[in-house]
Amino acid sequence: MSQEKQSRVIAIIEDDIDIQDLLSAFLKPKGYTLVFFSSAEAALLELEENQKCDVIITDLQLPKMNGIEFIQKFNSMEKQVPIIVMTVTKSADVAIQAVKQGAYDFIVKPIHFPQLLLSIERALQLKTLKEDFQFLRSIIKKKDPSEGIIGRSQNFLNAISIAKKVAKSTANILVTGESGTGKELIAKLLHTESYRSKGPFVAINCSAIPENLLESELFGFAKGSFTGAVDKKIGLFEEAENGTIFLDEIGDLSLPMQAKILRVLQEKKIKRIGENQARMINARVVSATHKNLAEEISAGRFREDLFFRLNVIPIKIPPLRDRKEDIVPMAEYFLTRFALVNDSPVRAFSKDALEYLLDQKWKGNVRELENAIERAVVLTESTVIQVEDLYTEELRAVMANDKTATFDKNDFHIPFEHTLLPLHDVVQKYIEYAVMKNEGAKDKTAKELQIDRKTLYRKINPTENILIGFFPHWPRSTASSNSGMIRRRRSREMP
Ligand SMILES: Nc1ncnc2c1ncn2[C@@H]1O[C@H](COP(=O)(O)OP(=O)(O)OP(=O)(O)O)[C@@H](O)[C@H]1O
Ligand SMILES: [Mg+2]
Repeated sequence: MSQEKQSRVIAIIEDDIDIQDLLSAFLKPKGYTLVFFSSAEAALLELEENQKCDVIITDLQLPKMNGIEFIQKFNSMEKQVPIIVMTVTKSADVAIQAVKQGAYDFIVKPIHFPQLLLSIERALQLKTLKEDFQFLRSIIKKKDPSEGIIGRSQNFLNAISIAKKVAKSTANILVTGESGTGKELIAKLLHTESYRSKGPFVAINCSAIPENLLESELFGFAKGSFTGAVDKKIGLFEEAENGTIFLDEIGDLSLPMQAKILRVLQEKKIKRIGENQARMINARVVSATHKNLAEEISAGRFREDLFFRLNVIPIKIPPLRDRKEDIVPMAEYFLTRFALVNDSPVRAFSKDALEYLLDQKWKGNVRELENAIERAVVLTESTVIQVEDLYTEELRAVMANDKTATFDKNDFHIPFEHTLLPLHDVVQKYIEYAVMKNEGAKDKTAKELQIDRKTLYRKINPTENILIGFFPHWPRSTASSNSGMIRRRRSREMP
């Protein structure tokens, strides 16, 4: 989590010009940036308002305000910068006094430079540790009941506010939304905000389990009820007693299974397989689906009566593309989380990276965004995530393998040729470049080129096959080969 030494700033408070020169001659070649002050008053003024620094070295004997007073005043600003004190006095009392006031270390003049360097390096380590500690503490402090649920868009906040309101009721709740929008997260929130929060939260993905197993998972079975039933098994409805059962992907249930669930909801009783005795259950049912259940009902695949039972209170989570305001805070949250988990020094996104995130379609919603950030945190070699770190494996592979592609992301050259190029070709080439530079983001490209979106579409039409190679979602109307198009472009570039 440490920064490079080159970027570290040392503020030096020393009224003796010769010592300033000596310190400068020794410390500058080590890569530190030095800022000198000849009085404690001047240093206080600048360090409070304008000048950032990582370590302070101060003389104790200064013209007006002395070093001890400086330490007291500076530390009251709570800037957390270590202070190293220099003095000609060898007296232990002075050293103790300085350290008591909050100095980090003490150096006696004439300065022993290797000792000073060691002290600076250790002070910097301490500062880094303190910063990391504060960073971790700020994350822990942020935790609240909806901990880890990030969003500031109005339509997402509406969904959260409904969830919080209805959490305390006994009504069944159906959470809908595309895959990866956070349905399970909301289901957990409904549980933690309910009176049942001390009880269990039991989740089952109805589409992931074969039909015959699903039944025994949900209802349990009696010993010997079928071959292999060597012992009784308690079903999930019973396990969720006094808590919440989350039936995920309820839209994928078969019709016979729907009938069984409907009976449970109506009677609030279950029967373990192989038993006649009905058992009362007390579990709150929250279900979720990415499917449009109204459509499923009209197609005869979902029972309308079950739908009404489950959907007493509906909560719809909008897809990420309809709540773009959530992208940046979520990305920052994931960055922080994955940086912590991976003990990575990554702390921020570049401006381009943030723009890239905002331009994506996020068909896989929050899950896709989360995965993209995790991959970037692991892959990046910088403390700031760059746009390239966010490219998908697919895009990387295309860029790495497509040797015929002449796209240079950072540069645009119009080649010098013996004969001049027709202006139309130059314009066309520049548009291709602009679209590719923006990773296919049409709105952004149109805005930057100051043309409207329709004009951009019209202009890129002849080049769309090049773009498909990089951006699979690009509209495709002709079937000519991608590489052929790129080759043609290239041959034109060769003088
Ligand atoms: N608002 C949010 N804040 C923080 N993380 C979120 C948010 N929404 C979703 N996530 C994260 O995104 C991932 C997907 O969320 P979740 O599993 O709840 O989605 P889902 O709608 O149930 O998806 P699926 O339909 O695929 O089951 C999870 O890791 C979840 O923690
Ligand atoms: Mg889910």
